Formats: sequence, structure tokens, C-alpha cells
Amino acid sequence: MSFRERVAILLRGEYNSVRFRFLYLPIEWLTYLFLYRLRGKSWIEFYGWRMDEQIRRKGHVPPKQRYLDLAEIHAAFLRRHGLRTTDRVLDYGCGLMRTGLKLSATLTEGLYVGVDISAERIAQGRDLMRAAGVPEERYETHVVSDCRLEVLRGRQFDVVWANSVLTHMPAEDIQVMFRSIQNLLAPDGRYFFTFAEAGERKRKAIKDFWYPREEIERFSREAGFQIKFHEDWENSDVMCCATKLPGATAGAVAQ
Ligand SMILES: C[S@@+](CC[C@H](N)C(=O)[O-])C[C@H]1O[C@@H](n2cnc3c(N)ncnc32)[C@H](O)[C@@H]1O
Repeated sequence: MSFRERVAILLRGEYNSVRFRFLYLPIEWLTYLFLYRLRGKSWIEFYGWRMDEQIRRKGHVPPKQRYLDLAEIHAAFLRRHGLRTTDRVLDYGCGLMRTGLKLSATLTEGLYVGVDISAERIAQGRDLMRAAGVPEERYETHVVSDCRLEVLRGRQFDVVWANSVLTHMPAEDIQVMFRSIQNLLAPDGRYFFTFAEAGERKRKAIKDFWYPREEIERFSREAGFQIKFHEDWENSDVMCCATKLPGATAGAVAQ
């Protein structure tokens, strides 16, 4: 390997791109710090704006069919784990609702509720649902700006699903979200979520978060959940199922 190649590898570091590491990433951090944090705005406000911008910049380009079809893995997993036709499903961080699209064939008498911090992603998801002919009364969507889920207060869900969402959430938000969901879960309900695991907390590229398994277990316990890890999840993330600890309540949800 030439000296030049060795320097390039060193400069790219774990980002595989010198431009990303030394230009785009610092711009993202500066935007977050100066336009959001120092003005008292939250990570969610920044990240929601960032997700919206990605769609606005691309001008609503339809997502790749392969990306949408990968959600069949989500639907198959839930069916394998007893999803019923009557279940009320909350998809937390639903994005383009590709999971909702795949679940619509099963939830013939149930309801699918998608929640996300990105209005643009929800709008694009609704277009996809419409194009697929899913009747409007079978799903509902909400754009949120924090993890308290006030808009769903008093409702109950049999299944809550959060795929690849904790991977973009700081610990404080995960803790609030766990408590909010504990309050919304039916007594025998199940909350399936994924997270990216590492030996210690890690954050990369501003938006990607890793957590030790013990920490996720602790957050769950503190919110009144017991959790089980599922080995039959075909992805590098860890799949968990949280159920209510007998007699436990989540307590007040503060942010
Ligand atoms: C990697 S995408 C996954 C989308 C979807 N779960 C799927 O599997 O297709 C992550 C999604 O979570 C949303 N998100 C991130 N943080 C969130 C939060 N704190 N509350 C709700 N949604 C969030 C993002 O806007 C994005 O749509």
C-alpha cells in the first residue's frame, strides 16, 4: 500500500469518507449546537428537521421497492409472535410506514397507528398507504415533537413496534419514551423494539447511538417493564420484547 493510500485510510477513519468526516459532520454538529442546543431546542427538533430536509431536498422521490419490501421481515416477525387480526398496533418512529403497509393485510379488524417526528416522512407514508389502497379508517398518523405521546393519552395498544428508532435517540429520550409507552400498553400488550448494542455507550455521525444491553434492561425496569431478547431477529440490531412488570406503573412522564 502506498504512503498516499495509508494517509487516506487514516484520514477517513471509521467514516470511510474524508469529506464526510471533516466537512459535512462538523457542519451538522455546528448546526445542532448553534441553531438548536444553544437556543434551548431539543435533539428531537433538530433530528425531525434533518429528516424533513432529506425528503425536501430529494423532492419526494419514491423510496426503493427493495427498501419497502424489507419490512416484510417486520410483519413476518410479528405474525410469528402472535399478531392478531384485531390488534391495535402503535408503530413508534414509523417513518414511511413500510411496516404498516405490510401489516395491513393482517390487521383486517385492528388499527395501525404511526407516530414520527418527521412530518414529511409521515406525509410520504400516507401517500404510499393510499396508493396501496389501504382504507383510511384502518390507520392513523401523528407527528410528535417529543417522546411523551400526549396525543395518544388514554388509548391502549396490544402491540407497540419501534424498529431502528432507539438507534437515533439519546438516553434521556429513550427513558421518557419507555415510560410513555408503558402507560399506553394494554395489560397483556407487548412492546417490540430494536437497539444497537455495544459494550459501552457510543455515538457516531451525530445521529447513531449504541447502548450496552444492561443499560437498556435498566431503562426498561425503571419504566415498569421486564424484557426478553429475541434471537430470531435477522438483523445486526438486538430485538427486545418488553411486557409490563406485574403491578408496576411507569409513573409521571416528564421531559
Ligand atoms: C431508521 S428510521 C426507521 C423507520 C421505520 N421504523 C422503519 O423501520 O421503516 C427511524 C425513524 O424514527 C424516527 N424517529 C427518530 N427519533 C424519534 C423519536 N424520538 N420519536 C419518534 N420518531 C423518531 C425518524 O424520523 C425516522 O423516521
